[in-house]
Amino acid sequence: MAFQRHLGHEEADFEKPVIGICNTYSEVNRCHSHLKPIVEAIKQGVIMAGGTPLEFPTISLGEMFTSPTTMLYRNLAAMDTEEMITAQPIDGVVLIGGCDKVLPAQLMGAASANKPAIAFTGGPMNNGKYKGQTLGACSDCRFFWQEYKAGTVSEEEIKNINAQLAPTAGHCMVMGSASTIAACAEALGMMLPGACAAPATVNERMCLARETGKAIVQMVENNIRPSDIMTRGAFENAVRTLMAVGGSTNAVIHLIAIARRLGIKLTLEDFERLSRTTPFIANIRPAGQYQMEDLYHAGGIPAVLKELSPLLNLGERTVNGKTIGENLSRIEVDEVYRDIIRPIEEPLHPEGGIAVLRGNLAPNGAIMKPKAAIDKTLLKHRGKAVVFTSISDMEKRVNDPNLEVNRDNVLVLQNAGPIGAPGMPEAGMIPIPNKLLKQGVRDMVRLSDCRMSGTAFGTVVLHASPEAAVGGAIALIKDGDWIELDVEKRSLELLISEAEMEKRRKEWNPPQFSDYQRGYGWLFRQHVLQADEGCDFDFLRPELETIFG
Ligand code: FES
Repeated sequence: MAFQRHLGHEEADFEKPVIGICNTYSEVNRCHSHLKPIVEAIKQGVIMAGGTPLEFPTISLGEMFTSPTTMLYRNLAAMDTEEMITAQPIDGVVLIGGCDKVLPAQLMGAASANKPAIAFTGGPMNNGKYKGQTLGACSDCRFFWQEYKAGTVSEEEIKNINAQLAPTAGHCMVMGSASTIAACAEALGMMLPGACAAPATVNERMCLARETGKAIVQMVENNIRPSDIMTRGAFENAVRTLMAVGGSTNAVIHLIAIARRLGIKLTLEDFERLSRTTPFIANIRPAGQYQMEDLYHAGGIPAVLKELSPLLNLGERTVNGKTIGENLSRIEVDEVYRDIIRPIEEPLHPEGGIAVLRGNLAPNGAIMKPKAAIDKTLLKHRGKAVVFTSISDMEKRVNDPNLEVNRDNVLVLQNAGPIGAPGMPEAGMIPIPNKLLKQGVRDMVRLSDCRMSGTAFGTVVLHASPEAAVGGAIALIKDGDWIELDVEKRSLELLISEAEMEKRRKEWNPPQFSDYQRGYGWLFRQHVLQADEGCDFDFLRPELETIFG
């Protein structure tokens, strides 16, 4: 206690619930640069509810400036969060995330620590504007860069667009990974209703921050822990929400990882089953037309959940002590906003936004977003492979004028998975070769064992598992092989005989890595699990065999 006096604390303060505020403010993470006043509002709420707030830092992962990829460090952030929650004398914790990997890491850590915890984010940016057109980071970063390379947008215009792409504080304002995981956290019951979509700049975000501070004190007093909230039923609600909002493929990996920290075996089969039975209703980019600011005005995730309510497990508990059903009882979806949140009887598409593919190229699964395909005819496609053996090989050759490639080819990227790259970078939206862009091509079938940004788009097959670096079938593809994708049938096949496949398997040699020979990167490669298992470290799982049976 003597050591806390310099902060103005008295003995009596520590007889109250002590609430850790896990602050991920960082000037190197622009999506978190505005968190200071939000933290103050959370502290106010804690004090108003009779608790004592103590702010502490953990790793902050910004997509823009973390090399080679934030996913390499998600598990490190999860370990940091778990250990700090466990080691410090706090009774409960507020997790403040925002940029893509931070909230998933925090939920993984909080699940393992299992002290009362509530999530909050800095909120999405407001819409950008350019010549009357709405801009969204980073879907439009990619879209306009592609157009610039195709020669349809000038250098001057690119500069002007760039200045408006990220106009306010907050995380990316389309349904990218940050917004998706926040939507899932709200559906899981780990965030207060409405906390996902309120933009970083609106007064409601500050009010929600204060209410979050109040709620965590109540959670401590009622001993409500992550394991009470994040049940199998709650994960099913989160997966249905992911499907209904056409959210990021990254959320598949994160939700599996979070669930497994609690001994819940969430599988790709669960995603496929729930996708088949959940309509896509939230018309948000990149799979739809609007952005998070519009979703906020339309009622945010509570309005989406209200529409989905016939499909949800309404008895699941949430951080405000009420069930999802109780939280939704007074929610109405305003008819004015029906183009943003469709009724489930009149969805944008009768099925969810993510499809799980199987076949000899991905025996343990691969995923894609059919709604994000620009050329829908590619959803059933047979084409010859053009193979890149690594990200650097792709960067070297994809725009080589001598590369033999046409619009019907399937672009394949190998050795970019969890172990191969390592960290499974967001390189899956393989660039359309410049010479094809100039011919007007804007989409091709692309296949890899890596991820893509939640803000990206195209006919892009991702997370092929097992990955190439461990000898998965994607490693066996050669230039000129025929590949067949049939999204309706959920199949992904390399059209060679089983005997030829076996021959290539015998001839395959594991890659010899010269990078990451020490330290965290080395540890990552030794222990990371495959995409279909959530890319967590094997040693961070609970004793799965005993829990899963
Ligand atoms: Fe942080 Fe997009 S860069 S959410």
